[in-house]
Amino acid sequence: MKVFISGNIAPAALQRLEENNISITQWNEDRQITTDELIEACKNQDGFISVGPNKINADFLNASKHLKVIALHSVGFDQVDIEVAKKLNIPVGNTPGVLSAATADTAFLLMLAVSRKAFFGYRKIIDGNWVKYEPAQELGIELNGKTLGVFGLGKIGLEMAKKCKAAYNMKVVYHNRSRNEAAEKEIAAEYLSFDELLAQSDVLTVHTALTTETKEKFSMEVFRKMKSKAIFINTARGGIHNEQDLIKALEEKVIWGAGLDVTNPEPMDKNNPLLFMESVAVLPHIGSATEETREAMAGLIVENILAGLNGEKIPYPIY
Ligand code: DGY
Repeated sequence: MKVFISGNIAPAALQRLEENNISITQWNEDRQITTDELIEACKNQDGFISVGPNKINADFLNASKHLKVIALHSVGFDQVDIEVAKKLNIPVGNTPGVLSAATADTAFLLMLAVSRKAFFGYRKIIDGNWVKYEPAQELGIELNGKTLGVFGLGKIGLEMAKKCKAAYNMKVVYHNRSRNEAAEKEIAAEYLSFDELLAQSDVLTVHTALTTETKEKFSMEVFRKMKSKAIFINTARGGIHNEQDLIKALEEKVIWGAGLDVTNPEPMDKNNPLLFMESVAVLPHIGSATEETREAMAGLIVENILAGLNGEKIPYPIY
């Protein structure tokens, strides 16, 4: 059996695939593979491991009907045309659960970095602008006892909420399509309407999927409903915020700060004004990038691939 991988994955997973007599072809270039190149690369393959934001769209799927399985190297699956995959009966799997703690750590890191203007301070040093002690400049805001608003209280949102409660005794409020009663019991999270969430949150953290409903949900209209001292954190998908509106909201002090692990578009341009703002921290989509988590993700990918190639039901299907 043959599998194409559109990037690098944990070596232990490659070894497991090889031990199962799977012959691997990998995309090794520094740039993201295009859809045409992907179609070509998958032509004679049995399975495909999708690393990065490859478009698993109708064009790709219709040209790749022969694939027995597609395993995503992500929990998110907004890049997949599920209806077409279903119609063509191509199983598609993801990596749920194993990256919740690492991604929540990234959200927490951004929240803290923004609240103390940490990335701006670092830039000040490397730019040679740290000239004297300035007691009245670059003041942050404290998190203790503040309100954390979670937009999308699922596994990752719950991990973030638990960390914020444990570290800063933050009150947790949330908005979901449907209520998370288990989380309400576990951490006393309070369900609010979307507008109430905006009005009450000191830190608003996004942990929802990118869908037609959430696309550019955080626009100027929404930022205007938030507190002027609020911090906006997005570790989910850059497409959930409108980046021009976010820049404007920060420039006009509609909100206080922002921490992003995901940008719109990705990669972010190195001259993007967000990178030069005091209370902003941006990371290059590293939410789940720890040795432990990437290894665990690769483990689920191998399980999806092996099951799919054997014609069995895959253990982590997205539909
Ligand atoms: C995920 O798992 O969805 C991460 O954001 C990587 O794409």
